[in-house]
Amino acid sequence: MNITLLGAGAIGALWAIKLTQQRHNVQLWTRNAETKATLHFNELTTPTTTNSYSFSCNSPDDLAACELLIVTVKAFQVTTALTPLLPYLNTDCVVVIMHNGIGTQSQIQQLLPHNPIIYATTSQAAFKPTPTTIQHTGLGQTSLGAINDYAQYLSHIAALFGAALAPTQWQANIYQPLWQKLAINCAINPLTAIHQCCNGDLARPCYQSQLDGICLEVAQVMTAEGFTTTQQQLRHQVDNVIKATASNYSSMNRDIFHHRLTEIDYINGYLVQQAQRHNIDTPINYQLWQAIKHMESLDHA
Ligand code: PAF
Repeated sequence: MNITLLGAGAIGALWAIKLTQQRHNVQLWTRNAETKATLHFNELTTPTTTNSYSFSCNSPDDLAACELLIVTVKAFQVTTALTPLLPYLNTDCVVVIMHNGIGTQSQIQQLLPHNPIIYATTSQAAFKPTPTTIQHTGLGQTSLGAINDYAQYLSHIAALFGAALAPTQWQANIYQPLWQKLAINCAINPLTAIHQCCNGDLARPCYQSQLDGICLEVAQVMTAEGFTTTQQQLRHQVDNVIKATASNYSSMNRDIFHHRLTEIDYINGYLVQQAQRHNIDTPINYQLWQAIKHMESLDHA
């Protein structure tokens, strides 16, 4: 397939490389005017062996021939990053959006009213020690599902992703896994960013009541939204991710560390806004949202 990847951060670059290994024709769309880029990759199973992959970049002709556009920029960058590509994009091109948090769906549907749109969420883990080096650091499930009618019957796209990097699953209702991932991000991301600690540190006793409170609030909102879950289930999932990614620094931890904007408005911010629609009080998530907004404001007045 002719594939364009927009947003070659750690997760985006991981997919670009894995799809290239499957002999798909992948180009990168980057912020610079470069026409070629080389990425160096360390596999999960052979972390000390580095293989290099060359990509063509930023070709409008390749974009016009693109059958699958994968967007892996941060939630708050999606619209700005996608807009310059719109004049070239064929309406047959399947668009897959993968970011932490929820809340970009209506913007994307307005921006691409005729394209099949799929949202995806992944528990794969990758790390970029330098701007051109990618390390695959953990396996996890990737879920994909349609958010408009044009994409309803595209379950083969999940199989294509799965052939590159298993396991993947096509979801009849993608909002269920998106909310489940939201719960994990509501718990892990702001705490690891505020305390500048790794994910594993959240297993310490001092964080347990806060994690319980976050999960209770998310479970209440999820239930009001029509999903079946409990505080205990969410807590169990959060604990599993804390254990499985113990030595990792969360994306929000890195964003605060590097003085970048974070996805907080699409994580705890989104949760609080949905809670308000249902008249549910979410003081812990509200306080975390405001604490991160305050930290961001110190760097982005
Ligand atoms: O945002 C992240 O870093 C990841 O989604 C997660 C699951 C919290 C692991 O670090």
